[in-house]
Amino acid sequence: MKESETGAHRHDGVRAVRWDDGAGELVLLDQRVLPERVREYRCASAQAVADAITDMVVRGAPAIGIAAAYGVVLAARAGALEQGIEALAVSRPTAVNLAWALRRMRAAAEGGVDAEGLLAEAQALHAEDVAANRRMGAIGAAYLEPGSGVLTHCNTGSLATAGFGTALGVIRAGWAGGRVERVFAGETRPWLQGARLTAWELLADGVPVSLIADSAAAALMRSGAVQWVIVGADRVTANADVANKIGTYSLALAARAHGVGFMVVAPVSTLDADTRSGDDIPIEHRDAAEVLGFAGHRVAPDGATAWNPVFDVTPASLVDVLVTERGAIERPDAASLAALLQAERTECGSSES
Ligand code: MRU
Repeated sequence: MKESETGAHRHDGVRAVRWDDGAGELVLLDQRVLPERVREYRCASAQAVADAITDMVVRGAPAIGIAAAYGVVLAARAGALEQGIEALAVSRPTAVNLAWALRRMRAAAEGGVDAEGLLAEAQALHAEDVAANRRMGAIGAAYLEPGSGVLTHCNTGSLATAGFGTALGVIRAGWAGGRVERVFAGETRPWLQGARLTAWELLADGVPVSLIADSAAAALMRSGAVQWVIVGADRVTANADVANKIGTYSLALAARAHGVGFMVVAPVSTLDADTRSGDDIPIEHRDAAEVLGFAGHRVAPDGATAWNPVFDVTPASLVDVLVTERGAIERPDAASLAALLQAERTECGSSES
């Protein structure tokens, strides 16, 4: 496939989600086993896609939404649209991109589109995400002084999206333009998305990365090595609170204490105007075994228990810049976010008429 067909570019060679037209299947890169093994995972039904989302075969808010959109196509082809949408809707609770994608696919179906039309809609949503990421990359990178050090958390790159990434897209664009000189990534216990995924995809694209234990972040900021913390989001509420991978809130607090900038990079599909504040976001808790062990091996003594929320909420007051494909908002709040969403609705409305 040519570069223009895959949307892949220099500094962006990895793709997590692919539709196999011949087989009529969704093909995912199995993110549970990277980087040790590069293995494909095929889904032939909406339930298989829902299970893949729950089990973290595919993860990252935009990638979850895109996979779910193809899941709807599989449901429609099987003549079980509603059943498929229901299964997909409950596969993971926090990333709002899932509900957003299902809403969009349902609207297309209700507009009279058949299964093949739904495939075109899923492919459009898929392509729009790469384009949004590239725009956010350029907008976010403009905030970075040449030669900056940056710290990121979890994986927000091509593996978490249709390609290029949100926060990692800003870092890629910053690297390509000489604005980013050193990239640090938190390992992201317990799933190690930083150590396994972010390090893998950056190195695959020729961008050097230094890993830190999550607990080293404040000391790194104090050392002066980073000027920006750049993260993605699973949901941004009406008042601009940000749900993201557990540990993001600690990074925001430490950044504010050290005069380090805190940037959140999220497409409009991650903005949730219907949820008032971060207190109202359903936070996923996963199995205690993820914390009690390491790489599948139990390390804590028998009898120890664990608290394992996999996302936290950073209050809007700690966010210096929110970057979307529709522009950036400095010190975002309810009013500025509402204005951005209103402009988005007006533009979409006028382009449809
Ligand atoms: O549990 P995960 O790996 O799905 O969590 C992913 C994150 O928290 C990302 O930061 C977020 O989805 C933004 S990805 C562009």
